[in-house]
Amino acid sequence: MCGIVGYTGTRQASDVLLTGLSRLEYRGYDSAGIAVQHDGAMQVICRTGRVAELRSSVEAVGAPGRCGIGHTRWATHGRPSEANAHPHTSCDGRIAVVHNGIIENFAEIRERLADQGHDLRSQTDSEVVAHLIEEAYPRAAAADDGDALVRAVSETLGHLAGSYALAVICDDEPGTIVCARKDSPLVVGLAKDGAYVASDVVAVLDATRDVVMLADGQIACCRPDGIACCMMQGDALAAVEPRTTHIDWDLDVAEKTGYPDFMLKEIHEQPRVIRDTLAGRLVGNSIHIDELELTAEELNLIDRVYIIACGTSYHAGLIAKNLIEGWARIPCEVEVASEFRYRDPIITPTTLVVAVSQSGETADTLAAIRDARVKGARVFGITNVIGSPVAREADGVIYTKANKEIAVASTKSFLGQVVSLTLLALVLAQAKGKMTSGHIRQLYTELANTAELVEQILADTEAIDEAARACTDAASALFIGRGMGAAVAHEGALKLKEISYLHAESYAAGEMKHGPIALIDEGFPVIAIATHSPVYDKVVSNLQEARARGAMIVAIATQDDEDISAHADHVIRIPKVRDAFSPIVASVPLQLFARSVALARGCDVDQPRNLAKSVTVE
Ligand code: F6R
Repeated sequence: MCGIVGYTGTRQASDVLLTGLSRLEYRGYDSAGIAVQHDGAMQVICRTGRVAELRSSVEAVGAPGRCGIGHTRWATHGRPSEANAHPHTSCDGRIAVVHNGIIENFAEIRERLADQGHDLRSQTDSEVVAHLIEEAYPRAAAADDGDALVRAVSETLGHLAGSYALAVICDDEPGTIVCARKDSPLVVGLAKDGAYVASDVVAVLDATRDVVMLADGQIACCRPDGIACCMMQGDALAAVEPRTTHIDWDLDVAEKTGYPDFMLKEIHEQPRVIRDTLAGRLVGNSIHIDELELTAEELNLIDRVYIIACGTSYHAGLIAKNLIEGWARIPCEVEVASEFRYRDPIITPTTLVVAVSQSGETADTLAAIRDARVKGARVFGITNVIGSPVAREADGVIYTKANKEIAVASTKSFLGQVVSLTLLALVLAQAKGKMTSGHIRQLYTELANTAELVEQILADTEAIDEAARACTDAASALFIGRGMGAAVAHEGALKLKEISYLHAESYAAGEMKHGPIALIDEGFPVIAIATHSPVYDKVVSNLQEARARGAMIVAIATQDDEDISAHADHVIRIPKVRDAFSPIVASVPLQLFARSVALARGCDVDQPRNLAKSVTVE
């Protein structure tokens, strides 16, 4: 949520900042701004709307200078407007701040600052930071040790409750950017031409692959020739050695590479994600997830699993519940993190809590992890982002190998999560002695084969596009399925509503006659997950009931299903796999279906309204 960039070096700062912001736009896109230092003065340009609008304004007025900070916003406090866009400045305009996160005690700070005569010009929580630094700076400068801005920032942090990633510049220290973070990511990239600051490595990849991922509580002072890091220790600052991580991602992750949008590109990456997530996991006839950091005996003792997640990641959890209970015979509950954290779930030392989060930053999921750990559970993370808060705070982590996901709607990360959770279910079944090694090898081989089957689906999308055309003008749609198909239906409905703004609901198909069937009238789209499964006949009965009331049926069915055409208006055929793996092949056409409907309705599939990629606020 919100993207931060900064640069100090030999290049034109505004170019670097605008390129970085366009790479971070997936984090928020209601307004954007930059502050650049030139000849001892600060120039601030903010615009509502996308980074492209900001770019036009910057190009129109010109913004010379070799040091600056920038921000792309997802509004929390105060509506999208130029006044609320970052950077925010101090009263004298000599200090500029960009912030990601929430300052929880901003209201009381704001009141105090206003009483002291500060002129607060926005409705945001972030602006107080610039004014607090303005208050602290003269005291810090009195020490005359060349680190006044670092000291002023560190004093300011002592007043803040909540979460933050911050980048600050001050006209009294040209060429210096001071950054700090707590519960919100921030990286500094080191290159020959200067130091780069960003919320996410994608914004710095074209300049450098060597980055310092700031730790919680760390403050970094970035200058053109390098960075110095320190931590608060009581009132003093203790120097810490910056730890550099080399990122070996290809810059292609941040480019569309010929695809019309990131969503389509990422959908097409899914066969690779399946292969990479599985690579090296089968050793002999057993599955290895060494990152779990649990011995076979400890795994065997696990008697309850909670999967906690939000949104699409929660749907991956629903799929895994069926596998963990079916294969390992361990009771498994799946819960949205925002509920879990405020309940008092039954957790014992033999409970395994699995936190699933693409971004690894989701505030509710992180809070749930902390809560579960306090209650004594082993917590395992499944995330896509190396070094993310989920990865750091869990006892062990599997990375989903999806690589950076830019489109706001999750596709390839979802598949990576499903495959990772499937591996976890196999490991648990193995530890509990519920499967022979031959059975495990067989399942692994079939799971690996799904990569090729997904390629087949991607090669021919005509039936998907045709079904999408039939639904484009609908006011609403229902997704139904049973068992694994119910979880797929939930994900299909979420994908459709978030990118096409077409109202969509999902139900376990057996629930239809307990209420939702009342919605059905002539032409109402019902998307039924009717894949090969033990409950196939039941799903067909449910879709017949809907059709008898006028519904237009779109069925996701297996290639060899000869009967389904008699019951559906549109059939999207997918390769036949065992029920356990049907979500992998069935969710891909639903992603494409949602995208097709969204495009036909004129929507921006990569950056849907009101959403942002990382939900770092409650
Ligand atoms: C939907 C989507 C969201 C996320 C949710 C959790 O396409 O992407 O529903 O799944 O915000 O995010 P993570 O997985 O980053 O915790």
